[in-house]
Amino acid sequence: MQEIFNILFVDDEENILKALKRLFMDEDFEIFTASSGKEGLEILNTGEFAVIISDQRMPEMTGTEFLLKAKELYPDTIRIILTGYADVNAAMNAINEAGAYRYITKPWHDSEILHIVKEAAQRYKLIKENKQLTELTKKQNEELQTWSKELEYYVQIHTIDISKRDKEIKILNEKLRKNSKELMGCLRNLIGLRAKSILNHSEKVAFISTEMAKKASLPTAEVDIITIAGNLHDIGKIGSSDVVLFKEPEELSSDEMKQYIQHTIKGQLAISPIEDLYKAGVLIRHHHENYDGSGFPDKLKGGKIPLGSRLISLADRFERLSRYSEIDEALKKIWSMLGKEFDPELFILLESVIVEHKTILFSSEDIIEVELSIKHLMPSFIISRDVIGSPGLIIIKKDTVLTEKHIELLKRSSYEDYSKSGIFVYKKRK
Ligand SMILES: [Fe+2]
Ligand SMILES: [Fe+2]
Repeated sequence: MQEIFNILFVDDEENILKALKRLFMDEDFEIFTASSGKEGLEILNTGEFAVIISDQRMPEMTGTEFLLKAKELYPDTIRIILTGYADVNAAMNAINEAGAYRYITKPWHDSEILHIVKEAAQRYKLIKENKQLTELTKKQNEELQTWSKELEYYVQIHTIDISKRDKEIKILNEKLRKNSKELMGCLRNLIGLRAKSILNHSEKVAFISTEMAKKASLPTAEVDIITIAGNLHDIGKIGSSDVVLFKEPEELSSDEMKQYIQHTIKGQLAISPIEDLYKAGVLIRHHHENYDGSGFPDKLKGGKIPLGSRLISLADRFERLSRYSEIDEALKKIWSMLGKEFDPELFILLESVIVEHKTILFSSEDIIEVELSIKHLMPSFIISRDVIGSPGLIIIKKDTVLTEKHIELLKRSSYEDYSKSGIFVYKKRK
């Protein structure tokens, strides 16, 4: 739909106003007329006007003066000045001072004045649209700014919330880590209270199996489980009798063996209720399975035995052998049992860990003290602690050099039936 604009003609001559009205009556304009600048300003005050065409020569207020006022009040309205031929200077003034868009000389050509006024109305339309667009853009920008501020605020709140939660999670994790460390400490203390030798053994087994797991490039979480299982693998022995506790498995009677087998199951049962230790419990259960399926408690075979259990099994046997054999001999013995008791593929890991960590695992001093069963005593070994018999009598004194006779005496004394420990001797390590 065509937009109808208001236009105002101002002239003190009635005839001119009539002529102009006639000329524009068929055009798409609403025509208003005023006979003076004062009246013109009153009419302008009644609505929105697109174009003002004002005569220059008027009594009281000239066209330029009128247009100047109109400019101040309605700056967007397009202003045109009508002048006689002699008033070109006045027309220029109107353009310069009152910001008139054009001047039209009297008498005018109808087509010319029609064209100029239509063009002016078009210009007014453009200015108006431009203003509306600018307004809209400004409004949208303001809305965008508000949104962006709100968004920034929410992001900030959210970030604060996330970092607060992060902190809380970190504290909780730290607490959990501390708790499991303390729990491990308690369990190790329990093992140590039952027998210091199991604790020493367990610590070495944990170290060797952990290093083997690292060498096998297992994920950290799995390595951690192996460390826990290595430390606690013999926790089930806490409830075992002293005889079972001290003797080597191959020295046990069949009844004692039945009890010994139970330490794997009891160990798993003891720690499995703690969720974090459940996986370690599984490794503990199977640390005496043999590679050929002849082990216990479930006679698992080959790859069916959890990898962690296979590693702990190797570390466990090596640690026990190294108490009364040189490192090379212990490794040789293990080598002879590959494929039967142990996974052949894992031997290389054990060997490299032992070679690499020899000084950590075994005292760097030449003379060390070891606890041996009577079976492993040899003539020439030097006793490092008094061997006390059942009534509290010293059977063999500290620093005695063992002979065949001493060993015979110990075998006959049924020392191992009542003692909680083995025989402590000095040993020279190569
Ligand atoms: Fe064991
Ligand atoms: Fe063990």
